[in-house]
Amino acid sequence: MTKTKFSFLAIVMLAGLVAFSVTSCKKSSSSPTPTATLYDSLGGTVMVNDPANNGTMIEKGRLTIRSVVDSTIFVIAADTALNGFFKVLLSEVTNGNFSGFQALSKNLTDFVCVGTGAKNFTYGGKSMVAAHDPAQNSRMNGKADNGDFTEFEVDLTLGAKKNGVPSTAPVFQSLARIVESLRSQVVQM
Ligand code: HEM
Repeated sequence: MTKTKFSFLAIVMLAGLVAFSVTSCKKSSSSPTPTATLYDSLGGTVMVNDPANNGTMIEKGRLTIRSVVDSTIFVIAADTALNGFFKVLLSEVTNGNFSGFQALSKNLTDFVCVGTGAKNFTYGGKSMVAAHDPAQNSRMNGKADNGDFTEFEVDLTLGAKKNGVPSTAPVFQSLARIVESLRSQVVQM
């Protein structure tokens, strides 16, 4: 090969390489691969039948979260170490009034959905500090201490286990880390 032919070939190859890099860079910056969220690991946006509302569909991630939330509320209701905090709620339920339970279930479910990365829900309840300050939330009977918070985590573990999410599952451990990160907002004494 002559020197001129070689240089020409080298230029053509270099131009090809530059063109390829520009195209591939463009591709990766215009359509980044979406990262799976914790919400996706819990079932994500796949629509399934809602067993609690006949004929209604629900996102599988939300259904998993709502099931764990409701089970945890039931575990707490039977836990004498914590149920005193929920005096208002428990007296309503004892009298056949489930409106407070439904509101708490919805707000907690929305909160966890948003916290785990769901896109189709918003949380409209109180801030974590306000929700757990008896002066700002008359439904919170007293201030929680560190021991109460740890007991709440124990009850959450049981609530998750009841729904086939063992504490050893990576998805549970990620959830537990989010819960633990809220300790200082909930514990106010
Ligand atoms: C990270 C842990 C926790 C989270 C994410 C959480 C979240 C929430 C949310 C979203 C609400 C509803 C707020 C609203 O409706 O505006 C709520 C209410 C409440 N929380 Fe918590 N909470 C946690 C820990 C605790 C602990 C440790 C206790 C008690 C020791 C507790 C006791 C209550 C009570 C009594 C209410 C009011 C229930 C009712 O509506 O009757 N929470 N919490």
